[in-house]
Amino acid sequence: MKPLVAPSMLSANFANLNNDILMVNQSEADWFHLDVMDGVFVPNISFGFPIIQAIKKLATKPLDVHLMIVQPERYIKQFKEAGADILSVHYEASTHLHRTIQAMKAEGLKAGLVLNPHTNVMVLEDVIADLDLVLLMSVNPGFGGQAFIEQTYHKIIRLKQLIRDSGSHALIEVDGGVSVENAPRLVAAGADVLVAGSEVFKSKNPAQTIHLLKQ
Ligand code: DX5
Ligand code: ZN
Repeated sequence: MKPLVAPSMLSANFANLNNDILMVNQSEADWFHLDVMDGVFVPNISFGFPIIQAIKKLATKPLDVHLMIVQPERYIKQFKEAGADILSVHYEASTHLHRTIQAMKAEGLKAGLVLNPHTNVMVLEDVIADLDLVLLMSVNPGFGGQAFIEQTYHKIIRLKQLIRDSGSHALIEVDGGVSVENAPRLVAAGADVLVAGSEVFKSKNPAQTIHLLKQ
């Protein structure tokens, strides 16, 4: 099975976003991955509603919004209105996760949950049936261009088993240090969606790199 590919716009050229949005539209990519950082949950600040709204105007593919912010439940409606199709919140950032997941679904969003590298997949056991997506961080969140954490393969396999056992339809997405080189092993382990930032946007031919990630 070919994976879905979601280029992370964090590594795009913000001085000519139009160009990179059109490239993703015309490529074999499946989703736009948008990283929102608040400078509190992670030691970096990226972008928020105005950029998401601008991308939404031009994008012909779903917006996969990854919130690296504290208390994400406060902003669900606003992210929906800005154009998010899939919204993912961190397990480590929301105390009443069950309520947060229900709130995302009530807004008509696909509901995703993100786990930091240190968080065990078994914490998902009681909510997995409600989720559309589980995003496994394969780097510590906050920055593009970091080295892939090898332990992720093992986590994907255990998460796949948990999803099977629970009858959940959740997709497994992997984010951080994903490359053309490690993609086949990630997909073999059970990854359904590959996020790639620097691998795509720092390459000479981003559309071709997306094509290779899909192989
Ligand atoms: C990191 C973000 C990632 C980032 C990935 O906190 O969640 O989506 O853009 O960048 P690469 O693919 O360069 O590791
Ligand atoms: Zn991300």
